[in-house]
Amino acid sequence: MSQKLSVGILGATGMVGQRFIQLLEHHPWFEVGWLAASDRSSGKAYGDAAKWRLEARLPERVARMTVSPAEPAGAPKIIFAALDAGIAREMEPRFANAGCAVISNSSAFRMAANVPLVIPEVNADHLPLIEEQPSRAETGGYMVTNPNCSAIGLVMALKPIEERFGIEQILVTTMQAVSGAGYPGVASMDILGNVVPYIGSEEEKMESETLKLLGRKSDGGGWHVEPLTARMSAHCNRVAVEDGHTECASIKLKRPAKREEILAAWAEFKPLADLKLPSAPEQPVEFAPQEDRPQPRLDRNRGDGMAVTVGRLRPCNVLDWKFTLLSHNTIRGAAGAAILNAELLYSLGKLEPRAHRSDVVTPVAAAHV
Ligand SMILES: NC(=O)c1ccc[n+]([C@@H]2O[C@H](COP(=O)([O-])OP(=O)(O)OC[C@H]3O[C@@H](n4cnc5c(N)ncnc54)[C@H](OP(=O)(O)O)[C@@H]3O)[C@@H](O)[C@H]2O)c1
Repeated sequence: MSQKLSVGILGATGMVGQRFIQLLEHHPWFEVGWLAASDRSSGKAYGDAAKWRLEARLPERVARMTVSPAEPAGAPKIIFAALDAGIAREMEPRFANAGCAVISNSSAFRMAANVPLVIPEVNADHLPLIEEQPSRAETGGYMVTNPNCSAIGLVMALKPIEERFGIEQILVTTMQAVSGAGYPGVASMDILGNVVPYIGSEEEKMESETLKLLGRKSDGGGWHVEPLTARMSAHCNRVAVEDGHTECASIKLKRPAKREEILAAWAEFKPLADLKLPSAPEQPVEFAPQEDRPQPRLDRNRGDGMAVTVGRLRPCNVLDWKFTLLSHNTIRGAAGAAILNAELLYSLGKLEPRAHRSDVVTPVAAAHV
C-alpha cells in the first residue's frame, strides 16, 4: 500500500482505545490520524491525557498527537468507536450521519434491526444490513458493531458446531477479566481474593447477541436477521484475572455428534482463509488437548490474541457436550474484532463511504456477502 488509510479513534484514552492504538501501530492498511475522548482529555497531548495501561510502549508519534473534541468536523471517514453505550447512543449516529463508517465496540446499536452485529468468521453475510441505514443513502455513512467480549468467544466456538449439527440449547458460565470493565474498573477491594457473581446487563447481552450472531437472513419482509431459535442461559461472573475471559459451556445438539466430529468442525473452521485479512488468525478456533487448558495467562495471546482456545471437550450428563473456552477480551473481544470488521469491509469495497481509494494499491480479494 503506497499510503495507508487514515482512521480515527473515539474514546481513544480508554482500555479499548489503547488497544486500538497498539494494534494499529504497525497495521499494513490503516494509520491512526485522529484521536478523540471526553472534554477532560480534549486539547491535551495524548501522552498526558491517557493513563497508558498496556505492556507495549505507547508509540511516540501517538503520544505527541493532540486529543480532538469528539465532533465529526475534521475527523477521518473511518472511525473506530470505544465509547460507553450511553455516550455512543448519541455520538455514533452523528458520525454516521456525517458520512463516516463507524466501527463500534459498544452495545448501543448491536441489537438494532438495521445494524449489523458481525464476527467476520461467523456472519459476514449480515454486513449488507448497512444498506438499510438511512445515513448510507444520505451521506454514505453507516454503523457496524462487534459483539460483547464474552459473546464473541462463545459464538466462535459454537458456529462450527451449529453449522454441522445444529444447536438446540446452550448453557454458559463465564469467568470474566477485570479489564472488561474498562479502567479503573472494579475496585481492587472488591475483586482481590474474590468472585463477583454479577455484571450489569451482561447475561442479557450474551443471550440476545449470541442468537443474533448465529441467526440467518430472513427471506420475507425485507432484509433482517432471524435469530437462531435455540434456548440459551448465561451466568456471568467477574474474577481476579487481568485479561482473558474463560467460559464453561454445555450444549444440546439437533443431530448427534462424535467427539472427533466436533474436533474436526473446530479444526476445519477457516472461513476467511482466502481473504488474507491482516488481523485474521490462521486457526480461529484452536483446540488445546491438555486436561487443564485453556488458561487465561497461558492461552489468551494465541493467534496474537485473535484466536479462541477451546479445551476439555467431554460428554455432558444433562445436555450433550461440554467444554471450556477462552478469548482475549480487549483484543478478540474488542479492538481486534473491530479492526477485523474494518478489514473485511475494506476487502468488500465498503469501508470508505466518501473518501478516495485511488492511493490504495494493496490487492485485496473481493469477497461476496
Ligand atoms: N474493556 C473491554 O474488554 C471491552 C470489550 C468489549 C467492548 N467494550 C466496550 O467498549 C467501550 C469502551 O470500553 P472501555 O473499557 O475502553 O471503557 P473506558 O476505559 O472507560 O474508556 C471510555 C472512553 O470513552 C471516553 N469518553 C467518556 N465520556 C466521553 C464523552 N462524553 N465524549 C467522548 N468520549 C468520552 C473516555 O475519555 P476520557 O479518558 O477523556 O474520560 C475514554 O476514552 C464500552 O462500550 C465497552 O462496553 C469493552
